[in-house]
Amino acid sequence: MMSIVKIPDAGGDNITFLEVDGHLYPNAPVDYPVEVAVKGMRDLPIREDDVFVCAYPKCGTHWVWEMVRLLLSGDTETVINKERFMLELTGNDVLEKFPSPRILNTHCLVEQLPRGVFEKKCKIIYILRNPKDMAVSFFHHHKKLTKCYEYHGKWENYFPFLLDGKVDYGSFFTYMKEWAAIGTTHPDLPTLTLVYEDLKEDPLSGIRKLAKFLNAEKSEEFYLQVKELTSFNKMKESKGKFFEEPDGSAIMYRKGEVGDWKNYFTVAQNEIFDRRYKEHMADCEINFRYTLQ
Ligand code: A3P
Repeated sequence: MMSIVKIPDAGGDNITFLEVDGHLYPNAPVDYPVEVAVKGMRDLPIREDDVFVCAYPKCGTHWVWEMVRLLLSGDTETVINKERFMLELTGNDVLEKFPSPRILNTHCLVEQLPRGVFEKKCKIIYILRNPKDMAVSFFHHHKKLTKCYEYHGKWENYFPFLLDGKVDYGSFFTYMKEWAAIGTTHPDLPTLTLVYEDLKEDPLSGIRKLAKFLNAEKSEEFYLQVKELTSFNKMKESKGKFFEEPDGSAIMYRKGEVGDWKNYFTVAQNEIFDRRYKEHMADCEINFRYTLQ
């Protein structure tokens, strides 16, 4: 079953999504019929050297994608639009034309990944970000991508809506729990977990870890170049235009900071969030850093 659905936030403002088999996806204005891509995802032909960048939306997918691309290609320039291709929003007739090694982004749950990922034991990079900053980032994403979501609501009404997981890709509590268990559910899958806050604090360490994981080790000088090319300002300058909205804001490169949530969460919202977090994540310990000292 596939349909366009409009779901009201707590103030009655609707957000538009695409619903396929009970899961919500962005109703993205892409050339490819998204429902075909979503339905074909499990059986997508996978190559052994495909690398997967997996994250809940707004956790740094574009950032890490670019690091991986530079490391695998040995390139010293950023490219503009390739990361546009989320696995679940792109069909095989597009993906099969990509040269190897392909770097495939997805926001899907582990069990939604193509079967070939598990059969071929593809490398997986999983990115975590503290969910308070993710929430603020997702709010802006939903509001700014008006063609996709047609949403004009307010933060106070969006906040409870997001906590209930009524958004594309579902509840981030479910997502984090499922992915946190990957070492147990799929111990034979090569997985590297990167944390947004750690990458902000010390990008070079993250880049070295990535290079080792990808068997793409290079010189320290090259790592420094990767760090420079993937800095927030550099990426915004070189790639922001591709995702620009009519008001000139580059939505995929908004602030790129740790702790912006403090400019949005009220004291009461913060308490509600912490309570809900504890309820959902009681059996899943993840020590997020909500600020950097
Ligand atoms: P903010 O909205 O908090 O600024 P994704 O790529 O998964 O959609 O994640 C988007 C978030 O990552 C946005 O967060 C964006 O600004 C941030 N981001 C993108 N590129 C970045 C970079 N080079 N360094 C740090 N953060 C970056």
